Amino acid sequence: MRTQVGIVGAGPAGLMLSHLLDRQGIDSVVVEARSRQYVEDRVRAGVLEQGTADLMAETGVGERLKREGLIHHGVMFRFAGRTHRFDFDQSAGGRCIIVYPQNKVVADLFDARAAAGGKVIVEAEDVSVHDFAGGAATARIRFRKGGESQELECDFIAGCDGFHGVCRRSVPAGALTIFDRVYPFGWLGILAEAAPSSEELIYAYHERGFALLSMRTPTISRLYLQCKPDEDIHQWPDARIWQELQLRLASSDPHWKLTEGKVLQKGVTGMRSFVVEPMQFGKLFLAGDAAHIVPPTGAKGLNLAVSDVRVLTDGFAEFYQAGRRSLLDNYSAKCLRRIWKVQRFSWWMTSMLHLFDADNAFDRRRQLAELDYVTSSRAAQQTLAENYVGLPTD
Ligand code: PHB
Repeated sequence: MRTQVGIVGAGPAGLMLSHLLDRQGIDSVVVEARSRQYVEDRVRAGVLEQGTADLMAETGVGERLKREGLIHHGVMFRFAGRTHRFDFDQSAGGRCIIVYPQNKVVADLFDARAAAGGKVIVEAEDVSVHDFAGGAATARIRFRKGGESQELECDFIAGCDGFHGVCRRSVPAGALTIFDRVYPFGWLGILAEAAPSSEELIYAYHERGFALLSMRTPTISRLYLQCKPDEDIHQWPDARIWQELQLRLASSDPHWKLTEGKVLQKGVTGMRSFVVEPMQFGKLFLAGDAAHIVPPTGAKGLNLAVSDVRVLTDGFAEFYQAGRRSLLDNYSAKCLRRIWKVQRFSWWMTSMLHLFDADNAFDRRRQLAELDYVTSSRAAQQTLAENYVGLPTD
């Protein structure tokens, strides 16, 4: 089997790359270790920057997004008995965010690839990548499918296989520099059959810890609580989760109330900031979570993956159409400039809104002062809003 770009991983990065390449007339094959069901059912964040949503619409995968996506023109912070609204119309030049779950993005892309006759090989076992360093003319992806060994020859490999994937680990030690920060807490998240108690997301800073009210649809809420990084979910029966959410999300407005409902899914995620530099080694290009992880505060992970593959597509298009590789050679540098700004934003949101065990009373007052400043200064509100709706890709 031979293709131009062999893509490892059928998450948002890999599928979107395959979709964008197809529109440039570039052939690709996606190789995924899991089943479509597994990839689609993974519960992830659900906030698209306007740039991400626009790209989906412009490239013909935005039909359901247009129907079901919830457009938000603001986001709320709740702390010290106050609720503040960041108004994107005022502070972000009218750009907005769209609440639309990652699962649906993945499903839409799978459908689009299938409709276009794209090749996505799922349930590939023992995936490995070879011959991508400098010299060899052909890079190779090997795997087993239905008990048989297979080899995919390609000009380039795109490593879109996530943080735990095989691609980054296959680069020789020493060729990559890793920047890493693990946070001393995690998020306990639930999906609940309850109408969202707020039209817009609420990020709450509370003396018991951070909480977030988000949503998936007009009838499904998504809620999070700051917890220990290794929190045992079995210690959290549904009633305890709701009780804690009620405390942390409480409003001084007597008319506001947090609507409870049946818990459909729950889980704990750790939080880290991670970047690998450079994002390229020979013919292997890393994109999305394979190259970087952000803590979820700000919901940037999927959006970053999409901006990576947009840049990568431009590089491959220039290579195949004009025979030049200046954009490909600049892929890592171009992506990293934006990635570091988004890393900074995600770290800042995380630091501002969570309780750190090592912090003392001074730090708590400092956090409250920062929240007070961010919600009262026009300049600071603009800073938050322009990052939240998404920084420009150039
Ligand atoms: C989510 O809806 O899952 C979500 C929203 C905002 C975040 C993180 C996660 O900052």
